[in-house]
Amino acid sequence: MIDLSGHKAFVTGAASGIGRATANTLAEAGAYVIACDIAADKADEVTAELAAQKGGGEFVALDVTDPAAILACCDDVTGRHGAMNILVNVAGWDRTEPFVENSPEFIEKIVQLNYLGQVRVCQAFVKPMMESGAGAKIVNVSSDAGRVGSMGETVYAGAKGGVMAFSKSLAREMARHNICVNVVCPGPTDTPLFEGQSERIKEALLRAIPFRRLATPQDVADGILYFASPRANYVTGQVLSISGGLTMSG
Ligand SMILES: NC(=O)c1ccc[n+]([C@@H]2O[C@H](COP(=O)([O-])OP(=O)(O)OC[C@H]3O[C@@H](n4cnc5c(N)ncnc54)[C@H](O)[C@@H]3O)[C@@H](O)[C@H]2O)c1
Repeated sequence: MIDLSGHKAFVTGAASGIGRATANTLAEAGAYVIACDIAADKADEVTAELAAQKGGGEFVALDVTDPAAILACCDDVTGRHGAMNILVNVAGWDRTEPFVENSPEFIEKIVQLNYLGQVRVCQAFVKPMMESGAGAKIVNVSSDAGRVGSMGETVYAGAKGGVMAFSKSLAREMARHNICVNVVCPGPTDTPLFEGQSERIKEALLRAIPFRRLATPQDVADGILYFASPRANYVTGQVLSISGGLTMSG
């Protein structure tokens, strides 16, 4: 049994899909969860769900592509709660289309959101973690697209590959501070993001997954819970695919 009582967790992308399941799972294990998302209209329902869990929590609105807003949010959150024990970067987005058709604006958005957003949130929150000296857990959500490539998701796959390389290097820098940094790579997961895929791609993926079903957001949140917990105290710089066996990377 994983007990996160007394831990404080900051989770991005927490209004939907994997991030929302993660926020609820960490709060169920006893952590106080600061659920962050750009979708401020979901604040009431996210807050109500967290209030029903053991650890409770709150919602904060944040656009992770806005560097100044990240710093202000980190100041506010750590000013009220102290350094986080857990940081989970989940916010992300993509649209499948041929690489040659990607507009400059689309490419910019994909990199800002899926790569630089995680870099900037990590940089803001890791400083108070280091100063606290209490150790911490960082879990960054990448994608199997970043491990094995994905047709029509070329720039996204590059950004998600960057998340893995960044996380491994950060893990090396942070080990002396007892801050573990690990990565979860979801495979196709039943969320609003995946809903946006074409029926043809959805059917092909289902046929290719050994378990013959999509991941649920809870399947992914359970892997994140492990990395965020004291059960992973000696684990850092690692990448875990949660994909029903679709990818089996060495
Ligand atoms: N669903 C899948 O099949 C799948 C597969 C591999 C990886 N992933 C990754 O998992 C993560 C979560 O995806 P999901 O499927 O739960 O998606 P989702 O669309 O259900 O949830 C993503 C959340 O991120 C939030 N968000 C978007 N832009 C933001 C911004 N600028 N600032 C703050 N929040 C923002 C959205 O409002 C939303 O609540 C993403 O990083 C995604 O790339 C998903």
